[in-house]
Amino acid sequence: MKFEVLTIFPDMVDHAFRTGVTGRASGEGIIELDTVNIRDYSTNSYGSIDGYTYGGGAGMLMQCEPVYRAYEEALSRLSRKDGEVRVIYMTPVGEVFNQEKAKELSSKEELIFLCGHYEGIDERVIDEIVTDRISIGDYVLTGGELSALVVMDAISRLVPGVLKNDESAETESFNTGGLLEYPQYTRPDEWHGRRVPDILLSGDHGKVDNYRMHEMRRVTKEIRPDLYMKYMEERGIY
Ligand code: ADE
Repeated sequence: MKFEVLTIFPDMVDHAFRTGVTGRASGEGIIELDTVNIRDYSTNSYGSIDGYTYGGGAGMLMQCEPVYRAYEEALSRLSRKDGEVRVIYMTPVGEVFNQEKAKELSSKEELIFLCGHYEGIDERVIDEIVTDRISIGDYVLTGGELSALVVMDAISRLVPGVLKNDESAETESFNTGGLLEYPQYTRPDEWHGRRVPDILLSGDHGKVDNYRMHEMRRVTKEIRPDLYMKYMEERGIY
C-alpha cells in the first residue's frame, strides 16, 4: 500500500506515520508514505497558496493550481494515472469514516490524501481530482493532517503483514458482529483491591467464551446503545 499525502505540514504527517506500528511496517516496506508540500507549488513569487473567498466570508481558501500541481507531482510517483487512483479529501463535509470504509480502502494499492487548511479549498479543484470526501467525525479540526493520519492508520492495520500475529485484527471491536470488545485483564489477579473476574481464572474455555460474549453485549448496550440496537435488529431480536 502506498500513501501520497498532499499537505502544507509534511513533517507532521511524516513524523506521526513513522512512529509505532505504521513506522515499523513502513520500515519493512509493507506500507509506504510520501508527502507533497502544497506550498512548493505556489503560483506567485511570495509563495502564497491561498486567497480571499469570492462572495465574501471569513478566512482564506486554498487555490486550485497549487493543489492541482501537488496532485500531479504525487501522481507522477505512482503507477496509476489520473482517474485511476482514489483521491481522498479530508473534510468535515464528508461521509463519516468507519471500519467498513477502512476495509474497502485497504484493498487499494495506492491512495492519495488531500489535507485542507484555512477555510477550505476552492471547489473546482476538488471537483477535478477528488473521488471521496471523508470526515472523521462531527467536529472541526484545524486541518486535514490529523484526520488523514487517523484514516491511514485504520487502513494500514488491515493491510496483510502490518499487524503481527499477536496483534491480530480478528477479535476486536467492529469485527465482532457489531459489538464492542469485552474488557481484558493481565497480571496481577488483584490490584488496588480489584479482582480479575473469577471465570477468567477458571481455565474453563466454554465459560470464558460465554462470559466474554455477555460482556460484549453489556458494554455495547451501556456505551453505544445505537450499535446495540443495530446488532439486535440484524438478528431479528426486538
Ligand atoms: N478537517 C477538519 N475537520 C475534519 C474532520 N472532522 N474530519 C476530516 N477532516 C477534517
